[in-house]
Amino acid sequence: MKLSAISPALLGLAASVHAYTVNYTTVTGYFLQDETATDASTFDYTAVNFGLLNRTYPADKKLKNAESLTQWERFYNQVQELNDESHGDVEYKVLFLGRHGEGWHNAAQTYYGTPAWNCYWAELKGNGTATWYDAELTENGVDQALVAHNFWQKEIDEQRIHTPDNYFVSPLARTLQTANYTFTDLKFPKGSAEFKPLIKELFRESISIHTCDHRHDRAYIHEMFPTWPIEAGFTEQDELWNGVTGETNDAQDQRSTKALDEVFFTSASVKKDTFVSVTSHSGEISSILRVVGHRTFSLNTGAVIPVLVRAEKLVHEKPDTTTSTWTVSAHCTSPPVTSVAACVCQSSAAPVTTALVTSF
Ligand SMILES: *[C@@H]1O[C@H](CO)[C@@H](O)[C@H](O)[C@H]1NC(C)=O
Ligand SMILES: *[C@@H]1O[C@H](CO)[C@@H](O)[C@H](O)[C@H]1NC(C)=O
Ligand SMILES: *[C@@H]1O[C@H](CO)[C@@H](O)[C@H](O)[C@H]1NC(C)=O
Ligand SMILES: *[C@@H]1O[C@H](CO)[C@@H](O)[C@H](O)[C@H]1NC(C)=O
Repeated sequence: MKLSAISPALLGLAASVHAYTVNYTTVTGYFLQDETATDASTFDYTAVNFGLLNRTYPADKKLKNAESLTQWERFYNQVQELNDESHGDVEYKVLFLGRHGEGWHNAAQTYYGTPAWNCYWAELKGNGTATWYDAELTENGVDQALVAHNFWQKEIDEQRIHTPDNYFVSPLARTLQTANYTFTDLKFPKGSAEFKPLIKELFRESISIHTCDHRHDRAYIHEMFPTWPIEAGFTEQDELWNGVTGETNDAQDQRSTKALDEVFFTSASVKKDTFVSVTSHSGEISSILRVVGHRTFSLNTGAVIPVLVRAEKLVHEKPDTTTSTWTVSAHCTSPPVTSVAACVCQSSAAPVTTALVTSF
């Protein structure tokens, strides 16, 4: 499908334009990941209580039993207090942004090297032994999701952490699998929300020409996890991926903003639903972090980052409805020259921008 054929309605933009825009900001001072001194490349969320800083909170003063509560219990209370004390147009939520475990596309990118991967291999569905069209998790990727599973269980047992009130998941296979391995069979605290993630189109990975960003059709996804809800309006076929053009950062940030707009201010009791899990991807989580004004923080495969977000409706501001255009990426039609760190095709052939894979 050509870019010109993608209407705003298809992207879901026209359908839910609000009468307001939302100002999203990251509230710092609670997590190590917010601090410039924290090195994302070596950060292990499981070693430091998800990064929650050891500190007291203003809301502790109203607690009779603060000393007997854990850091996560007092933090949850603090977030409730922030919500109770703010007016109706302000909402605080803690987003637990989880990146999927290693997928076959990650393994292949390492195997071929990034230039050759982007320049040719990623545009194919696989290489005969591995498939990376809507890539599934490798064994290592499953293990990484189980690390997240075990860590959540430890936090439930030791910190009595409040588990998510709502779960969202990208429709790509690797995130569906990751959410499943992470949250299925946890011994949840009494009264916690059931794990039934909403499959949400707009939390998918950056849409590039790579086949790993092309999702399966709705029927396939439903068959994978028959009991999980799929959001209304989710199309049978993937109508966003086209193999020719991909989202720019601006276009993706508009999409991420819309996704968040569908998570915040959504029902009468929203303020009670403060902890939200989103199982997504590295590119999409980077985009969400940009939208909420968080510093750049790259996640390793399988890692999770909690972010305290303040959202405020700006009711007098008209939403910006201009949509950023997508862009083409040049690539080769056969394996490229690998001795250079760039996209150089064999026999001095010029890179093309036509789709390599057209049939699905
Ligand atoms: C958005 O919220 C932040 C934090 O409350 C504030 O500093 C900023 O001025 C707000 N921006 C707009 C456009 O209202
Ligand atoms: C807070 O203290 C506990 C116990 O001393 C420790 O295990 C944890 O890593 C500390 N958290 C941070 C973010 O430093
Ligand atoms: C295909 O890619 C995988 C990496 O995902 C690699 O392990 C395998 O050896 C490759 N197969 C061929 C035939 O090159
Ligand atoms: C979902 O997770 C459970 C528990 O780890 C596992 O037994 C099951 O095979 C997973 N299902 C899929 C489709 O991956």
